[in-house]
Amino acid sequence: MAATPRIAGSEALDEAVAILRGGGIVAVPTETVYGLAARADSDEAVAAIYRAKGRPSFNPLIVHVLDFGAAQALAEIDERAEALAEALWPGALTMVLPRHANAALAPAVSAGLPTLALRCPAHPLMRALLDACGFPLAAPSANRSGAISPTEPAHVSASLGDAVPLILDGGRCEAGLESTIVALRSDQQWQVLRPGPIDRERIAGILGAGNEAVTPTGTIEAPGQLPSHYAPSKPVRLNTVEATADEFLIGFGEVQGQTTLSPSGDLAEAAARLYRCLHEADAASAPRIAVAPVPETGIGAAINDRLRRAAAG
Ligand code: TXA
Ligand code: MG
Repeated sequence: MAATPRIAGSEALDEAVAILRGGGIVAVPTETVYGLAARADSDEAVAAIYRAKGRPSFNPLIVHVLDFGAAQALAEIDERAEALAEALWPGALTMVLPRHANAALAPAVSAGLPTLALRCPAHPLMRALLDACGFPLAAPSANRSGAISPTEPAHVSASLGDAVPLILDGGRCEAGLESTIVALRSDQQWQVLRPGPIDRERIAGILGAGNEAVTPTGTIEAPGQLPSHYAPSKPVRLNTVEATADEFLIGFGEVQGQTTLSPSGDLAEAAARLYRCLHEADAASAPRIAVAPVPETGIGAAINDRLRRAAAG
C-alpha cells in the first residue's frame, strides 16, 4: 500500500517552510478550500504541483501573497484593483491582472499568459506560512485535476495520497468554495471568470456595474470553467425533489436527503458543506447521486455553478 501523507497542525509550520524552500509541495488550509502549495518563483516547484495533481499545464495557477505590497511587486495594480483589495483582502477574491514583465515568478505559474491570478488569503495558518516563507505560493486546490475539491485534510489524503508529503491541518474550510475570480481588463471592463464566495453584486458595488463585460471572451481563461470539473466518480442529477431508490440524495432546506447541505436552507452553510457532501455521496454505496434544488441568489450562484460542472462529469 502507498504511504499516506503526514497530517499535522501549526507545530509543523517549520517543516512545511523547509519543504517549500527546497522546492517541494505542501497541502495547506485556506478559508476557501485546501490548496497544494509550492514556491511560485521556481519552475521545478511549480512543475511538482502539476505533476501531483495530474493537471494540464495549460491551466494556470493562483499565486498567493501575504499582503498588498507583495501583490504590487508581481502585477500592475490599478485603482480598481486597489479598491477591491482594500475592501476584500485578505479574503476569497482572486484578481487577474497584467503581470509585471520582470516579476520574480516561474513562467509556468501562469502558463505563459501575460496576466496573473493573485489572491491574498485570510486563513491564519496559510498567512503564517506565507509570512515565514517570504516568497509567494502558487496553490491550486489540493485534489487530482477535475475531481472534487478538498475542504478538510482527509479529502486531500484520499485524493492525492503520498503524492504530497505533508498536509497542514487547519480544520474545515470556512467558505468551502473556491475564491471568486475577477478579471480586470485594460479597457476598464471587468468580468467574473469564476463565481465564488464573494458575489458579483458585491464586486459591482465596488467597481460600478456599468463596466461589467457582458460577453464571454469565448476562450477558456479559467479552466475551472471547463464544463466537467469538481466531478464525483458517479452520475449526478440536479434539482431533485424526490430521489429514486438507487440515488444518494443530498438535501437542501425542506428536501431531506441522506445528508443535507443545510437543513435550514442557509446558503453560506450549504457552500461550506458542498464538497463535504459530494465526497460523502461519492463514497456511499448508491451508484448515483441526486441533489436538491438550490436557489440561485447570492452565493447560491456559485454553488449551482459547481453543481452543474459536477453533473457534467
Ligand atoms: O480558493 C481558491 O482560489 C483556491 C485556494 C487554494 O486558494 N485555489 C484554486 O486554485 O481554486 P485553482 O488552481 O484550482 O483554480 C485557479 C483558477 C483556474 O480556473 C485557472 O484557470 C484560473 O484560476 N487562472 C489562473 N491564472 C489565470 C489567468 N492568468 N487568467 C485567467 N484565469 C486564470
Ligand atoms: Mg480546483
